[in-house]
Amino acid sequence: MQPNIPAAGSLTPLFVTEVYRTDLAGTSADPLITRLEAACRRIAAEDKKGWEWSAAQGYLGYTSYESIVDPTKIDPDFAELKALLDVQALIFARLMEFDLRGKVPTLGALWINILDPNGSHGGHTHPHSVFSGTIYISVPEGASALQFEDPRLGFMMHAPQRLPNARPYRQVMVPMAPARGTLLLWESWLRHEVPTNRAKTPRISISFNYDVDLRTS
Ligand SMILES: [Fe+2]
Repeated sequence: MQPNIPAAGSLTPLFVTEVYRTDLAGTSADPLITRLEAACRRIAAEDKKGWEWSAAQGYLGYTSYESIVDPTKIDPDFAELKALLDVQALIFARLMEFDLRGKVPTLGALWINILDPNGSHGGHTHPHSVFSGTIYISVPEGASALQFEDPRLGFMMHAPQRLPNARPYRQVMVPMAPARGTLLLWESWLRHEVPTNRAKTPRISISFNYDVDLRTS
């Protein structure tokens, strides 16, 4: 890589953290999003173990995270979603300029989230994966955004706060408001959280992890 020679008096962005967004409502994927909403509700209605696990975790609502290993194997709409996500994962990997040595990202875990009013999900990362994402299936008015946290936060020993109107890439907590059909992708080490859901009805999303096996044999 050639050394960079910035213009005098300029700022150079280094070590940039990037989040990918695309919006699928109104595209050819729109009918799938509608079918997935019904599928999420159907699967949740039959998954007593999932409700119990969610309650035990203090999660207000339902997640299939621990109870259903692979929804793409039990529901054709989820299998169709996997095909869509595989394409988006490749787009993300190319935009991020990852050297995948000819390999393709592979879907690992995929799970349903039905977040009830007043529910939230504290800050976390997604270990054991390369990048992660969420597709938003139902986003009623007032539903939570997804909030990303500056990964350097722990190093900011004496840094002043940013101005309220500072550019988003200079803030330490950045909310990204999804709509029905929004797809977000980010590197799995990036901490994020779901603030309290202020909607009157549940917010439904599907989250997932991608990995890349770079072994040569
Ligand atoms: Fe997450």
